[in-house]
Amino acid sequence: MARLTGKTAIITGGARGIGRATAELFAEEGATVIIADIHEPDAVNNPAISFVPLDVTQLDSWQTLVDSVLAQHGRIDILVNNAGLVGSYEPITKIDLDDWHRIVEVNQTGVFYGMRAVIPAMQAQHAGSIVNVSSIWGIVGSSGVAAYQASKAAVRMMSKNAALSYVDDGIRVNSLHPGLASTPMIAAQDDAITADVIASTPMKRAADPREIAYGALFLASDEASYVTGIELPVDGGYTAP
Ligand SMILES: NC(=O)c1ccc[n+]([C@@H]2O[C@H](COP(=O)([O-])OP(=O)(O)OC[C@H]3O[C@@H](n4cnc5c(N)ncnc54)[C@H](O)[C@@H]3O)[C@@H](O)[C@H]2O)c1
Repeated sequence: MARLTGKTAIITGGARGIGRATAELFAEEGATVIIADIHEPDAVNNPAISFVPLDVTQLDSWQTLVDSVLAQHGRIDILVNNAGLVGSYEPITKIDLDDWHRIVEVNQTGVFYGMRAVIPAMQAQHAGSIVNVSSIWGIVGSSGVAAYQASKAAVRMMSKNAALSYVDDGIRVNSLHPGLASTPMIAAQDDAITADVIASTPMKRAADPREIAYGALFLASDEASYVTGIELPVDGGYTAP
């Protein structure tokens, strides 16, 4: 028996990177997967995976997505709020204000909108699992990256808040904290920053996105039926010291 048989999952930012690896793993494990992204994914060959355009910062679009998934599949078992961006590596006094607002809008408000849109359906089912993708930089500090750190730390606490607020509705909410994973986001970043993060990672390597996806799979599946409100680092030991 596959680990997500019969479940319907929405994965934001699933067109590439960690979201794409999660979509493929969830489909292999028996889920019906809806990738919700501003970009259409390339070469999806699995009939269990479909694509719906979504900008996570648009609450109306979230409602349209939820309505269409409910109309087509009857339920939403899993939401992985994965869409996100680093956006700026600048500290508080230097970050461009538009960058600040955009990063918070996508990384924090996007996760808030996702939960706001999906929780009523999960309440009606009296079941659901939400996995909010934060970061190692939502747990431990780093210099610069002010908006990213603030927004990812907010994701961690919003997850605990939702876990406690909706525990009586049978809804589990957890945050996932990836370390450095080899994705297009990281390919686009300055090599010196990547080398620095790897040097601070006890395993001294980046993760394959699938290694992060396995963390999401555990939290999403019924194997985690007694797990809510936790922060799960999948980080090669980065947050251990
Ligand atoms: N790769 C890493 O090392 C790493 C480490 C820690 C946390 N994370 C987090 O993991 C998540 C995925 O990262 P990744 O490395 O795969 O990134 P990526 O840039 O490779 O992929 C991100 C995906 O999100 C989509 N997206 C961006 N803005 C969106 C929006 N407004 N609405 C809908 N979709 C949007 C993009 O189109 C893209 O498909 C992010 O939240 C990121 O912060 C990544």
